Parts: sequence; structure tokens; C-alpha cells
Amino acid sequence: MIRSLSATTPRVYSVPKLDDYSSAALDRMAAALTSALDSESATVRSEQEWKSFRDRWLSRKSGIITQLNDLLKAAPKEAKREVGQRMNQLRVRIEERVAAAEKLRSGEESADHLDIALPGIRRPLGAEHPIIRTMNEVVAVFKAMGYSVAEGPEIESDYFNFEALNFPPNHPARDAQDTLFIAGQERRPQRDRLMLRTHTSPVQIRAMMQSPPPLRIVCPGKVHRRDAADATHSPMFHQLECLAVDSNITFSDLKGTLDHMCKSLFGSAVKTRFQPSFFPFTEPSAEVYVSCPFCGAKGCRICKQSGWIELGGSGMVHPNVFEAVRDYGYDPAKISGFAFGMGIDRMAALRWDIHDIQLFFDGDVRFLEQFA
Ligand code: DAH
Repeated sequence: MIRSLSATTPRVYSVPKLDDYSSAALDRMAAALTSALDSESATVRSEQEWKSFRDRWLSRKSGIITQLNDLLKAAPKEAKREVGQRMNQLRVRIEERVAAAEKLRSGEESADHLDIALPGIRRPLGAEHPIIRTMNEVVAVFKAMGYSVAEGPEIESDYFNFEALNFPPNHPARDAQDTLFIAGQERRPQRDRLMLRTHTSPVQIRAMMQSPPPLRIVCPGKVHRRDAADATHSPMFHQLECLAVDSNITFSDLKGTLDHMCKSLFGSAVKTRFQPSFFPFTEPSAEVYVSCPFCGAKGCRICKQSGWIELGGSGMVHPNVFEAVRDYGYDPAKISGFAFGMGIDRMAALRWDIHDIQLFFDGDVRFLEQFA
């Protein structure tokens, strides 16, 4: 509602013309202006009212402040100095009043609108994404065994992603990881060429370059491969890498650690199984299986009637890998280690019986809020 100013202030103030520029006349004029300013500002309630109040006093076109300037212009030469000073004081006062009226008004407005009978403002809590949740659970198992968490970049060089991990240039094992290369790198030496990391194993090298043995780390993170998206594949997925290096690490340590991890995650009844495999950066290498926690290894849809579920790859760190970080305190003659890498997405899918891993990445709140 727009209330007209004249309805509340019967006589609209304007700066009078003066014939007499004596101090007494200027005092009278200032007093009349101040009282009009105060009573007008007291009527301001709405934003609309404040705006017309402000314009009436401050507008350059016809505001009171402009009228004060005109008064100064009309003053005789000998009075200019005093009139000028007084006009300035009045101008400051007007500006302060206008600002104060707005402060008061907006404060009252919000107080007016406070209705304590209304329901409170709901701030919906976010939920951990099921993949992050799974990742954190696995990391927690390793933290309890004294492991630290290490991270590395998702854009990685050929050296860290392949070469230092004992994949020489043109080695056929590179073909098993369909790699997404960054374009325009041809002029660089091969080891410096950038790609999206295909696994979290390069973090092993980075962590060893950072700290001398003994080392116990897990590295969770995103990895990328040139795979078409379908119910069981995604060009971006998550892995968790594990590396333990010390003076006397054996394959029994690897088996014991993974057996403990599986029992912590899937319950004490599960068994673990190791099957010979090949990875360039481990020797010997093994694939790790856990007995199907859904059917007690009897065979079901989830384990495809086999009774076993594949978790990832593992093995004893290859001496050539230590050779790559020898200068950082890793002498392959003096130390040994085991490593392990597992996919997190498939594990999360198994756990919640999710049949399409794309659901994890679609960002559909109807899916995600079920995990809240
Ligand atoms: N990086 C391998 C992959 O993505 C998985 C893997 C195998 C990791 C053996 C390891 C390991 O640390 O020892 O296929």
C-alpha cells in the first residue's frame, strides 16, 4: 500500500527563500528543517515509504538537498562562508536520518514477519554417497590396523601410471587397461605424457617417494578407463589400493591382512581364496576372492552360482618397483612388501543389491536419498 506523504505530514516541508542571512534567521531555518526531517522520518514504515522519503530529501533533481544548494547560491557574497558551513551540517544530518530510517524500517519489517506459530525451516541433511560410505568403511578397517591414507592426482603421467610400476613401453599388460590419454602430448617424452589414471597403483610410487620404509598406506580414489557405460561398467570408477612395506613382509602377511579385511567387512563366517594371476608390479600375483556372504558360499544369483566373489588383485611388490624408488630408501635386497587393489563400486553394488552401477553416478536424488 502506498500511503501519500501528505496524508501523514499535512504540511510538506520545503526550503524557504531567505532575504535575511543573519545567524538568527539561519538558526530558525535549520530548526524548521530539522523538525520536518524528524517528523517525516518517523512515519516511514514500508520500503516504498522509505524510498519516497529518501528521494524527497536527497534527490538531485528537486530534493531538499538541492534546494539547500540553491539557497547557498542565492546568498550574498559576505554570508557565503557561514551559509556554506551550515548547509553542509544539514546535508550530513539529512543523510544520517535517511540511513537510520532504513535501518529501523528493515528491522521492524523482519520483526513484524516473525510468526512463531509457523513450522521451522527444514534444513535437509545430506547423506554420504553409498560409494564414499563403502570406501570409508574399508578405510576404517585399515586405519584400525595402523595404516595411513595417501592420495595422488587423477591426471597422471605415463611414468607413474605404468613405467615405474614395471609396465615397460609397449608391454602387452598395458592393453588390459584401456587408457584415456590427454590430447596433444605427442611431442613430450613418453614417460611425461599425461593420462587419466587407470588404477590407484601409481599412488604406491608417490607414497614411497614421500616416506621411507616401513610404510603402510591405503589409497582410495577415482580411476578412469575407456569403457562404455553399462550396468556393470563405467568409464569412471573407484578403487582402493593398499601397500605395506617393511624389512620382512611375507605372503602370509598379505593373506592374513586380506582375510581380516574380509571378515571385518562381510562377517566372521566368510573365507578368502587366492588364485594365481599376473600383474607387472607384483610377483607372485594373486586374485582375491571372498566366499559369497549372501548365500554362505552355496551358490546364488549374486555370486553367479559359484560361491565366490572376486574382490581384486594382489601380490608381493616386484623388485623392479622398489628399484624405481631405490633412491628414496627402498633397496629391494633389504625390504619386501605386499600390495592389493580392489574395486569399490562393485562392492557397494553387491552390498545393496543394486543391479546397475550407473545409478551411482546419475545423481538422481530419488536413488540417493534412500541412503540417508
Ligand atoms: N591396479 C590393478 C588393476 O587396477 C589392481 C591391483 C593388482 C593392485 C595387484 C595391486 C596389486 O596393488 O598388487 O587392475
